[in-house]
Amino acid sequence: IPPPGLYYSSFPTGQQIPMASKNSSWSFPKGFWWGVASAAYQAEGAAKAEGRGPSIWDVLLHRVTGYTVANQTGDIADNHYYMYKQDIARIAALGVKTYSFSISWSRIFPFGNGQINQEALEHYDDVINTCIEYGVEPSVTLFHWDLPLNLQNLYGGWLSSEIVDDFLNYAKVVFSYYGNKVPRWFTVNEPIVFCDDYPLPDNYFTNTSIPKYQQPYWCGHHVLLAHSGAYHLARSLGINGTISFKNNGGYKIPLTNSSADARAVQRAWDFNEGWFANPTFINGDYPTNLKDFVSDFLPDFTDAEKQMINGTADVFAHDAYTSQFYFAPDAGIDSCVQNKSNPLWPSCANTSYTYSSSDGGWNVGPAADPLSPWLHKATDWVPAFLHYIADTWKPAGGIAVTEFGFAEPFEVQKTIKADILFDPIRSSYYKDYMEAILIAISEGVNVVGCLAWSIFDNLEWSDGYQDKFGLQYVNFTTQERAYKASFFEYVNAFVTYGQDE
Ligand code: NOJ
Repeated sequence: IPPPGLYYSSFPTGQQIPMASKNSSWSFPKGFWWGVASAAYQAEGAAKAEGRGPSIWDVLLHRVTGYTVANQTGDIADNHYYMYKQDIARIAALGVKTYSFSISWSRIFPFGNGQINQEALEHYDDVINTCIEYGVEPSVTLFHWDLPLNLQNLYGGWLSSEIVDDFLNYAKVVFSYYGNKVPRWFTVNEPIVFCDDYPLPDNYFTNTSIPKYQQPYWCGHHVLLAHSGAYHLARSLGINGTISFKNNGGYKIPLTNSSADARAVQRAWDFNEGWFANPTFINGDYPTNLKDFVSDFLPDFTDAEKQMINGTADVFAHDAYTSQFYFAPDAGIDSCVQNKSNPLWPSCANTSYTYSSSDGGWNVGPAADPLSPWLHKATDWVPAFLHYIADTWKPAGGIAVTEFGFAEPFEVQKTIKADILFDPIRSSYYKDYMEAILIAISEGVNVVGCLAWSIFDNLEWSDGYQDKFGLQYVNFTTQERAYKASFFEYVNAFVTYGQDE
């Protein structure tokens, strides 16, 4: 980690960050929706209130060594379960167009299935109605990782096909109750992350006979069936809001011009974005690289399932924070992926090495990168990324950047509120990012919306409260909120460039 001076030298305290300079050919298209996002477990707190059942994240952060920083949990978080009215009022005051939040499955169904908790249904109804009263459009995610614990214990959660019916049952209750009050639905958040990046420790949850290295693909398989099932279910219920899932991943750049690096990049696209985007946007099936490398255990879709899955995302919703270099570091990687007898084969098939800058892997901001500093600016990679998505998956309904944001380094060390409110690196990230979206739009990419992560500092999962992605500061003792400069920078893009009538 570079010393603070490296980051802050170009932004002496008190100096104004240059505001976006108007390029007259830029504007946001008609209907472009922009806003801020949160997720239930990261923000709500009230973990035992009003009939909420436990989710796997309560167990992970309360019980599992190594999952939590300093015993931090979501028990209280931002107390958003009780403070949502103020929180919605605060974003409405800045003119934010949409608020994206997730519903906690284990509030609606404390056991994941069975008994419905009416109080929870009414709670989210009030959240949605409050948004509408304030002129803020609600965007709702059904599953943002907080799986009801009971479903994990009953059958291993997403590793079992039984999850599909339970998810559809939950989705049906939610769709039926809130119906067309919600213009935008996301079924699941970042399946790559909950299927692959957070393997659940066997000793705390129901064991499964599926070997660890195969588990992500079974999870992903059931996610695709659950997502597409929910899509069709919503249509049959007369839901007319847009429906998609949130995919995620950084823009992938080969470190060199070598063909080995090009292959590494292609593997990375296929094993990340393509895993979920090819089935939903191209042909109902997995990318060739997945089928080649993990064919022995990659579950097959029937023809009927392929048909059911294809075409079930109205927009390409992508969480895109950063860019990464990919490379095949040595001959080993290619020989590994060609050699199925290698015990590492299943995982090395999915491997390309990532070069991350010194800021913990988030290639953003003005920090000097020893290899390629230009990559840090959003304007240098976001337009290329949006073009890549448009060209590769050809989403008919356009692309939405459903999360982007930046945890400003060293913010945790600041104790003076005024300092925290002045967040120059995050501010320049937002300025660059919005300009990058405008560049892509002016080049003809159909970008339909964007959501900044996050409405306020919150629980960054296993990283606890130390990683602060918020556009608002939160004092976790008093629950006081305060706007950060970056929030104004974000809003300023819409003020400056305006929106087509
Ligand atoms: C993605 C996740 O959806 C969200 O929960 C997380 O806090 C942010 N990215 C930042 O890591």
